[in-house]
Formats: sequence, structure tokens, C-alpha cells
Amino acid sequence: MGKRIKIFDTTLRDGEQSPGCSMNLKEKLKVAKQLEVLGVDVIEAGFAIASPGDFEAVKSIASEVRESVVASLSRALPKDIDRAWEAVRYAKQPRIHTFIATSDIHMQYKLKKTPEEVLQQTKEMVRYAKKYCPDIEFSAEDASRSDWDFLCRVFDTAIKEGATVINVPDTVGYTTPDEYYRLITYVKENTPGIDSVDISVHCHNDLGLAVANTLAAARAGATQLECTINGIGERAGNAALEELVMGINTRRDYFNFECGIDTKEIYHASRLISNITGQHVQANKAIVGANAFAHESGIHQHGVLANKSTYEIMTPESIGLTENKMVLGKHSGRHAFDDRLKALGFHLSAEEIQKAFSEFKELADKKKVVTDKDIEALVEQRQVAIEEIYKFDRFVINSGNTITATASVRLIKKDEKFEEVSSGDGPVDASFKAIDKVVGIDFKLMDYKITAVTEGKDAQGTVRVKIQKDGKVFKGRGLSTDIVEASVKAYLNAINKMLNAIELGEGDEVGEKAG
Ligand code: KIV
Ligand code: ZN
Repeated sequence: MGKRIKIFDTTLRDGEQSPGCSMNLKEKLKVAKQLEVLGVDVIEAGFAIASPGDFEAVKSIASEVRESVVASLSRALPKDIDRAWEAVRYAKQPRIHTFIATSDIHMQYKLKKTPEEVLQQTKEMVRYAKKYCPDIEFSAEDASRSDWDFLCRVFDTAIKEGATVINVPDTVGYTTPDEYYRLITYVKENTPGIDSVDISVHCHNDLGLAVANTLAAARAGATQLECTINGIGERAGNAALEELVMGINTRRDYFNFECGIDTKEIYHASRLISNITGQHVQANKAIVGANAFAHESGIHQHGVLANKSTYEIMTPESIGLTENKMVLGKHSGRHAFDDRLKALGFHLSAEEIQKAFSEFKELADKKKVVTDKDIEALVEQRQVAIEEIYKFDRFVINSGNTITATASVRLIKKDEKFEEVSSGDGPVDASFKAIDKVVGIDFKLMDYKITAVTEGKDAQGTVRVKIQKDGKVFKGRGLSTDIVEASVKAYLNAINKMLNAIELGEGDEVGEKAG
């Protein structure tokens, strides 16, 4: 049995605060549930003081998650720690994660404090947090660019005041595997009391070394690895959970570590994050990219056919990918559909399954063959469904290469029908303008993307849009075999999110957030 390493997931904090990755409350809860199923040891649910939306999310996650520790980030300030505790106190296993910067650059230019003042603040704030919560993580921001002896003094102080985890972040993604290995070794050898706490590492990917640095630190003795699904996070992102975990598992012979992750849930978690955030996973991304298990060249294909281990160091099944063994069509029954959902790793309620099945039947009427990718797309669009203030009813398009496109769109709000007509630069533009007339609120379309779910001329198209209002961005997604319909649904989905969020103060706005 190898040494047990803890996995600390910060998708909902460091990941969520990166541009374009914001999530609403319902989405965050969905992600937290999936992280729990995945088996992460700690879920960093947010930065409670950052906004009322962040606070509510941390509180709800703390109330619902039972298996994992739930942490909230806080600066080393009483008001932050108070707010963090107010939110995580509902957790079965709460943690306050407090931080202060320790590098000369940060202390001088950002904090405008002397090292002695930072030491004093560490002492007072860890003590302050400890009054609330037994489990305290202390992070020395920009640790990898800090003076090593000063860093050890800060950690010593934090441990004496009751910190249970000390975190050594490579905040700006500056370190290298060898240097980080030496830093962790130095901290271990020169910090009194270090053996009684977890040593955590948190790496950013600015030089593409986040995973390599994290694994090097684990070899040096780090016992908690901080990471995010798909590696989302500030700037170039954080160490990717799926790469760390599959690295540890695939090279158990080398690392001799164990972690509590159910790797079969990895693909599902990755899809969920990219679906909710709208951040596409690059095709050649390790572990979860579309090409990660594809073999294109003849030589490779030949080898894999003869024996998979020639070119595959891990199996697609180990991360929860399924082979499409069964193709469904309009004669397929509920039973076959349920089985397929389970095989694809979806954990749905009876009501969700029923809704997905009705949509599947509608799709099977339009499309001869319904593949796994189609089913995934159907279920995933439900995962981001929100309360529909405006419901889509119907649209009619008149378009061609010799006429100006016109669209008539009818929406329903509280059982009342609203219909508007507009012309535009093509059918999508015309329909969006018709919707604008119905909604009557000023906002800006920032982004529009369309992708085919599968091949073939009857393929479903997924449209993703981003709209902006008052500095906040809202993402929408629509799915249909008709691209104008998919566009209208995506646009409406974003508008409904905007209308819902106006009251809650949610949206993709980056205020004062941590690295
Ligand atoms: O990158 C960083 O230093 C952080 C800390 C707040 C842990 O995210
Ligand atoms: Zn960070």
C-alpha cells in the first residue's frame, strides 16, 4: 500500500475566479456533488467574502456535502475569517483557509508591510481563525518566490497557533520541479512541528509545469495536492486534477502513492466543468482531451489492434469513457436508455431521467441514429438549465441569398405570449434582434460559437453564446438539429441567466479575488 496523498480541489474557487469560468449557485452545487462522488478529500467551495453570491455558494455546499472537507478561502483579516466561518460552519467537516503573501515583492508592493508585520499578522489571524474552527489551512502566498528561512519562520508561527495544513503555493507558476522539490525538503527540515501537519502544494501553470511541480513536491513529502478539474484557474490555470491522479495511478511503480479518487468519474467531471463554464477542452489535452485515446497513424493503429498496451499506458475505461456499444433509435425503450445513461456515468433523479427520455424520443424522430455523444449533449444541456423567465415557443425564418433575412420569434412569459419580428444580417441575427425587442433590456452579445455534436448532416449543433450586462458576463447554451433553433435557445438561456442573476449579484465579474 502506497502513501496516502490528499486531493484538494479548488475548481470552485481558483478555477471559478478565472475569466469566463464563473458559475451560478445551482451550477456550483452540481459541481460540488460531482467532486464528492469523485472522492476529493477537500472541496474549496469559494471565497466567502468576495461577493454575496460566493458566500451563498459556500454556505449551500457546506450544508450539502458530507464526505469531503469543505473550505472557504479568506485573507488573513478578521472580517474575511468571520465571513468564511459564517459560510463553512454548516459543513460536517469545515475548514478555514487563510492566506497572506510572504515574498519580498508582495510584502513591499502589495501589502506594504515589513516581514515582521506579516509574521505578526500570521500569528494573530491563525489564532483568530482557530477560535472558530479546528481545521485551519494557512497559505503563504507567493511562497516559491519568498525567502526560504522567512517562509519557515512564518510556517512555524502558523503551526504554533494551530494551523493543521500549511500550503506552499507557486502562485505565479515560476518554480521548476527540481527547485520545488528542494523547497519542500527545506521546509520539512527547517520548520518545527511540520510533521504534525499536512504540507500542501498549489501550483499555477504559467510555464506549463504545474503538474510536474506538484508531483515533484509530493515526492519531496507534500501530503496534500491542490488542483482543479481540466486545470482551469487564474491565467494559465492550476495543476489539473485528472493529470495528477492518473499520473499517480499509472506510475504507481514510481511514486508509490494512493489517493481516494474514483478515476471512473474523471471524464464525467471534466465534461461537467467544460459544459458549465463553456470552456472547451483542447483536443490534445492529457487524459480528457478528445484525442487523448485516439490513434491516428497506421503504425499506432496496427500496434493497438495487436495489443492495446503497445501505445496505451492507461485505458479509456479507467477514466470513465465508454465504448459506444449500443446505438439507440426511435424504437429503443426506456430501459435501454436508462442503461445507457448509467454506462455514461450520469447520476440523475427519476424526474431528470424522464425529461431526458422525452427529449431523446423527440431527437430520435429527427435523427436515425442517436449516439452516446448525442445523449451526453442532451443531458448536459439540462445540467445548466435554469429557471426560464422567458420560454421559447416558436420561430419562423425567411431567408435566402437574394433577400434580407427576417425572423419572427414567439416567447412565453408567465403564460403570456410575446411575438416580435425583425430583419437582420442572416437568420440568426434577425432572430436575436426579434428576441431583443421582446426582452427590451440593453445588453451586448460578446461571443457566439457553434459546434457539431456528431458527424453527418442530421447532426445536432450546440450553440454557445456570451452576453454582457453592466460588466457581468452570462453564458448560454442551446442544442438542436436546427442551428437557428439552437442559436435562439442559447441566446434565451443566457438572457434568462442574466435576468435571474440580476437579483442575486451573480455573474462573471472578477472583483478582489486571490491568485
Ligand atoms: O495561488 C495562490 O497563491 C492561491 C492562494 C490563495 C492559495 O490561490
Ligand atoms: Zn492559486
